[in-house]
Amino acid sequence: MHPALNIIIKAARRASQIINRAALDLEHLQITTKRQSDFVTEVDKAAEAAIIDILREAYPEYGILAEESGLTAGQGGGSDYQWIIDPLDGTTNFIHGFPQYAISIALAYRGQVTQAVVYDPLRNEMFTASKGGGAFLNDRRIRVSKCLKLETALIGTGFPYRMYDHIDAYLQIFKELAKKTAGMRRPGAAALDLAYVACGRFDGFWEFGLSPWDMAGGTLLISEAGGLVSDLAGNETYLQSGNLVAGTPKVFAQLLQVIDSHRTPGLAA
Ligand code: IPD
Ligand code: CA
Ligand code: CA
Repeated sequence: MHPALNIIIKAARRASQIINRAALDLEHLQITTKRQSDFVTEVDKAAEAAIIDILREAYPEYGILAEESGLTAGQGGGSDYQWIIDPLDGTTNFIHGFPQYAISIALAYRGQVTQAVVYDPLRNEMFTASKGGGAFLNDRRIRVSKCLKLETALIGTGFPYRMYDHIDAYLQIFKELAKKTAGMRRPGAAALDLAYVACGRFDGFWEFGLSPWDMAGGTLLISEAGGLVSDLAGNETYLQSGNLVAGTPKVFAQLLQVIDSHRTPGLAA
């Protein structure tokens, strides 16, 4: 196993202890609202600090992009390596005691994700991937499903709930896919949704307006599991645009076609 992946796993386990302990006492959770429908708890911050401590100790020179603390340069500055961290993906679920949330940590080299972990602390499911080395769930190799057609596909998505600029296009896509697929789910933690595509629980996924830390870990899991990931134009700019389509090779192509047919001029790729 790549040494950096070992460190990421250690950091994710440490964060999971903080999250699991806090989940036992949700009534006393301190919640702040960042903006409309965007919450942060002391748990998000404590988990992020614990993750950064562990990563920093092992690789002090690497840069960091983390949801709660933003961008931090590594010691000496100018490193080509960057950690991309979501300490608690699915905060709204967590606050409600809805059991679907995860920790996502990725390492990027010159903007390309090379190591990834998405960890579900409730089910003890550790999804890991190294570029060129395959994707795993708790040490067992995972692959995307063999699904070939939208008609038999279970598709994950994220509803717009903060920014409504593209809600009409989203609802048109949703309407068409509701008729054309075997079903759609909105579990509420994008990093875990992507891990579910990687291990075949979902056959495809799409969402608009994601942040890099929601996607970085999960997208490497999918490509290492034999799936495809792109922005809305089939290109690789999803970490910049925040708009993402993913799936088994066949389902991905059909999803992209439906989404493209409803794209409005203002909706970036
Ligand atoms: C959110 C979750 C959610 C997605 C949002 C994300 P957070 O992350 O991944 O599923 O729909 O776009 O922001 O805020 O809970 O870390
Ligand atoms: Ca997130
Ligand atoms: Ca988060």
